[in-house]
Amino acid sequence: MAGIELRGLTKSFAGQDVIRGVSLTVAQGEFCVIVGPSGCGKSTLLRLIAGLEEATSGTIAIGGRDVTRLDPWDRGLAMVFQSYALYPHMSVRDNMAFGLRTARVAEAEVARKVADAARMLRLEGLLDRRPAALSGGQRQRVAIGRAIVRDPAAFLFDEPLSNLDASLRADTRVELAALHRALGATMVYVTHDQVEAMTMADRIVVLDGGRVRQKGSPRDLYERPADTFVAQFLGSPRMTLIPVDVQDGQVVLPGGGRLSAPWAGLAQVGLRAEHARITAPGGGVLSGELIAAEYLGATLSVLVRVADGLTVAALAPPHLRITPGERVGIAIAAADLHPFAADGRRIDG
Ligand SMILES: Nc1ncnc2c1ncn2[C@@H]1O[C@H](COP(=O)(O)OP(=O)(O)OP(=O)(O)O)[C@@H](O)[C@H]1O
Ligand SMILES: [Mg+2]
Repeated sequence: MAGIELRGLTKSFAGQDVIRGVSLTVAQGEFCVIVGPSGCGKSTLLRLIAGLEEATSGTIAIGGRDVTRLDPWDRGLAMVFQSYALYPHMSVRDNMAFGLRTARVAEAEVARKVADAARMLRLEGLLDRRPAALSGGQRQRVAIGRAIVRDPAAFLFDEPLSNLDASLRADTRVELAALHRALGATMVYVTHDQVEAMTMADRIVVLDGGRVRQKGSPRDLYERPADTFVAQFLGSPRMTLIPVDVQDGQVVLPGGGRLSAPWAGLAQVGLRAEHARITAPGGGVLSGELIAAEYLGATLSVLVRVADGLTVAALAPPHLRITPGERVGIAIAAADLHPFAADGRRIDG
């Protein structure tokens, strides 16, 4: 397996810049997840790596070899798409073997590779079926099997699970993570499902408007988002951003509550729902009207309107009995706040 190195990569379509200077090193064996809003360039970036699109400028190296101008089949990568496009008239076995046979691999070798992949993906009992007789998750595993048998230098996945229903997606996610460990393969995986990103990634790359906003481990990005975009992109419920004043070295929150704040240039603070503790009215630094309380079993997800146009998301213990319309307080520890400047950049490094 090989690492992937992108240097100053750009792509424009008809004069419109879609990828605007992406530099990224994916280490050998790394599971790198690319996330970002629809249209930010995730698929385009993956297609550039695969060679399905030609870079406008910049370079792409795979395993230390410059492949920027090589055709897709000379790059040694395997790509798995959201729509898995299996051949409907062929059995699972023949679907998986097709690429190898086209490449004139000896039939004994083909049989061995298909058997290995089928065992790894738990498709052994399904090899003689046609795709139409498989579930969505099984079809997706066949598409992955088709990639595995080629021993690619790296795998590229573009939202491979988004056609599956929630429980199948969760199962397949776990299987893919296990497959990654078993193969020790370099994988670049595009998704807009943040649970997939958080659970599978060694490293997450947040893309926005064709630029990298931040890259790092799921923990880095969640606990120290570099800006308000990343802060609000990862995490559910979304992080609440609260505009603040700073007076006499203290943060003044809407409604007048104060917390001590060591940060110069502070304009807004970010608050994760799990750090907002619901109290009796007057018992915290914020207060307001409860506008929603969703019982989720393990937790109670609530929204509190603390000022005009400002609603704070909080997670409360499930046994808390509160009803919309009630007034509640919100307690916050200053250490849990994420400090941001007016331009959205994180202040404390
Ligand atoms: N062949 C093309 N010609 C012109 N514009 C394109 C082409 N392919 C993509 N684009 C544009 O490039 C931008 C990025 O598209 P891309 O498919 O990479 O987004 P994405 O991040 O994968 O979005 P999604 O999450 O919806 O799949 C979009 O504005 C899209 O319209
Ligand atoms: Mg896409």
